[in-house]
Amino acid sequence: MEKLNRSIHLVSRPTGVPKPENFQLILNHIPKIKEGELLIRTIYLSVDPYMRGRMRGIKTYANPFELNEVLIGGVVGEILETKNPSFKVGEIVEGRLGWADYSVSNGSNLRKVAPRLAPISTALGVVGMPGLTAYFGLLDIGKPRQGETVVVSGAAGAVGMVVGQIAKIRGCHVVGIAGTDQKNQYLKNELGFDETINYKTENVLEALEKTCPKGVDVYFDNVGGDISDAVMNLINFQARIVLCGQIAEYNQEKLEMGPRVHRKLIHSSALMQGFIVSNYVQRQEEGLKQLGEWVNDGTIKYRETIIKGLERAPQAFIGLFSGENIGKQLVKVSYE
Ligand SMILES: NC(=O)c1ccc[n+]([C@@H]2O[C@H](COP(=O)([O-])OP(=O)(O)OC[C@H]3O[C@@H](n4cnc5c(N)ncnc54)[C@H](OP(=O)(O)O)[C@@H]3O)[C@@H](O)[C@H]2O)c1
Repeated sequence: MEKLNRSIHLVSRPTGVPKPENFQLILNHIPKIKEGELLIRTIYLSVDPYMRGRMRGIKTYANPFELNEVLIGGVVGEILETKNPSFKVGEIVEGRLGWADYSVSNGSNLRKVAPRLAPISTALGVVGMPGLTAYFGLLDIGKPRQGETVVVSGAAGAVGMVVGQIAKIRGCHVVGIAGTDQKNQYLKNELGFDETINYKTENVLEALEKTCPKGVDVYFDNVGGDISDAVMNLINFQARIVLCGQIAEYNQEKLEMGPRVHRKLIHSSALMQGFIVSNYVQRQEEGLKQLGEWVNDGTIKYRETIIKGLERAPQAFIGLFSGENIGKQLVKVSYE
């Protein structure tokens, strides 16, 4: 029987939290490659919060996903066929490819992954886009100095975990904010965070006052909303606020009016700066090298939450918004 290619399409634009019916599994023939192209078998695919923004149908820094087309995200896969001399059959690559069993590429959007350096799944997490986001956002914008207090929200996620650990390498007092006690215990006991706050069970402002007795010098903001409003009350003179993500707002149809922070920024001579990891594409090699070294020598630890089966990718994606994941959320599509 002919083997088919399953792929996940976006069939309607979500309102509020995405639902399974916004997605559909479609069957097609396995694509044939032309001169210069490669056929890739997906091993892991990544679900990422930013994909929610692309489902809105509005252009931001990236084009929106088209309806009734395959969703595109981070994939690690193996080259099955090649008509491109730069790639060999059996090589492992990472790139933006379809949520599908098989994808075709001309190679320009791929980087090779060396399986002997680290498990290949890490190319989508700690030694991939989320790790780079933490590395450049914290070091380039946050500029943490020895003895300073660094607060990170979304602390038990793919980006947040790495932020906290790099801040510890820099000798900072690190406070992580996450949504369960189990996540927070992991951050403290395994990753060396100094303090943690469970934003679902604690009064965040009171908890920050206790855990940040010297105020906040760097705030790495992954979530926005009420949590970030609370942190802003404690920022120090010349604090740096790194705007990485606002997941608390991604499913809102109408943006909430928050407190106006401008005066606070003036009074504390603070810097608030947003960024997109792709701004650092020219320095990607530097970031991947350093992150790879830290993972290999055990300086940086990581966790992954892996759901099995391409058909469960929508469920994995939706779960990001209720905190189902600890560390990087991946979908295992096929086996090495
Ligand atoms: N600027 C960039 O280039 C860039 C690149 C990558 C990621 N990002 C952003 O960075 C953030 C983290 O991304 P990630 O890949 O590391 O995801 P992640 O943290 O691994 O997963 C999302 C986590 O967000 C938390 N969350 C969900 N809804 C929330 C809410 N309403 N309030 C507070 N926390 C909530 C959940 O953990 P809890 O259990 O703690 O609620 C969930 O596990 C996202 O905002 C993402 O868009 C930005």
